[in-house]
Amino acid sequence: MTHQVRAVVARGKGAPVSLETIIVPDPGPGEALVKIEACGVCHTDLHYREGGINDDFPFLLGHEAAGVVESVGEGVTDVTPGDFVILNWRAVCGQCRACQRGRPQYCFNTHNAKQKMTLLDGTELSPALGIGAFAEKTLVAAGQCTKVDRAASAAAAGLLGCGVMAGIGAAINTGNVGRGDTVAVIGCGGVGNAAIAGARLAGAAKIIAVDIDERKLETAKKIGATHTVNSKHGDPVEAVRELTGGFGADVVIEAVGRPETYKQAFYARDLAGTVVLVGVPTPEMKLELPLLDVFGRGGALKSSWYGDCLPSRDFPMLIDLYLQGRLDLDAFVTETIALEDVEKAFERMHGGDVLRSVVVF
Ligand code: APR
Ligand code: ZN
Ligand code: ZN
Repeated sequence: MTHQVRAVVARGKGAPVSLETIIVPDPGPGEALVKIEACGVCHTDLHYREGGINDDFPFLLGHEAAGVVESVGEGVTDVTPGDFVILNWRAVCGQCRACQRGRPQYCFNTHNAKQKMTLLDGTELSPALGIGAFAEKTLVAAGQCTKVDRAASAAAAGLLGCGVMAGIGAAINTGNVGRGDTVAVIGCGGVGNAAIAGARLAGAAKIIAVDIDERKLETAKKIGATHTVNSKHGDPVEAVRELTGGFGADVVIEAVGRPETYKQAFYARDLAGTVVLVGVPTPEMKLELPLLDVFGRGGALKSSWYGDCLPSRDFPMLIDLYLQGRLDLDAFVTETIALEDVEKAFERMHGGDVLRSVVVF
């Protein structure tokens, strides 16, 4: 059997996305068909549309999603129909060196659903990040589904599938922020603000938000920043030092992805402090640093890939904290929109006043 559902498709480079009817097959072995309840709009969707990722058009966009498992294929035991799940980019293998060394975040053999979703004329779709959830139903590998408490709002839960998890994880998993730490976060978009939420959750005593946009700093305060620094006017490294008794922060999280902010992050940390790089640079970017500074300051420079998260460990835990009122995931849902409004949400994305627009089905 197949399913015909409405979906948002990017048919060609730079062209506005279109609302299409697509064909979704029943799940094969190891696969799950998920009825999507909500899916956030992410910069990465826009990158796919602009051809910045690859040229495998048409793309079925959407990847920050939560929904209910409708049916599962042969051999699937971890999820069952009716489960409320958050989707993640890839299922890990459990067998490769990375998996066996306890670093499944870096699994070499991740997989997605093998069967293809198609347009009505049979053209195969490339699901963004192996998900494709701007669709009423999507097909994924069962290992991409993590069951969480049904009481959570789907719009908030889905955000853990990407940027919000990346930020929270940068603080709690990669940065190991602890009780009483001072933390600086450079760049307060969706990812940086999530890092602020993570630092707060971990018990940081001081959380310094740095951005060039005053509106982002206002949001950061609501999410948990104790101090804000507008780096449009002056050196944020000096400002962070001043706010930390002249030392620098225990943990600095970079959530922009540019050489100048990488450098600021490097110098804003205390001796033996940790720098967490979660902002993704482009291939041509370079950073030059005096080696004596690298050597002499000690501590750690770490990059954070998807918040070093383990979906099976982190999604249910964060949803429980959300339901207990200890993690305000709703604060990241700036607006809920209809499926046909994804293109408009792309336009609003760079306006500076949106953390996340979320499609609710
Ligand atoms: N200094 C400080 N903040 C800056 C600077 C700068 N020089 N340049 C930009 N910013 C701020 C922006 O004002 C914005 O608030 O960085 C923030 C970036 O936020 P978004 O564009 O919303 O991006 P986001 O989704 O948070 O992702 C940030 O993390 O995962 C990566 O690929 C992602 O590299 C990107 C980064
Ligand atoms: Zn994303
Ligand atoms: Zn593996």
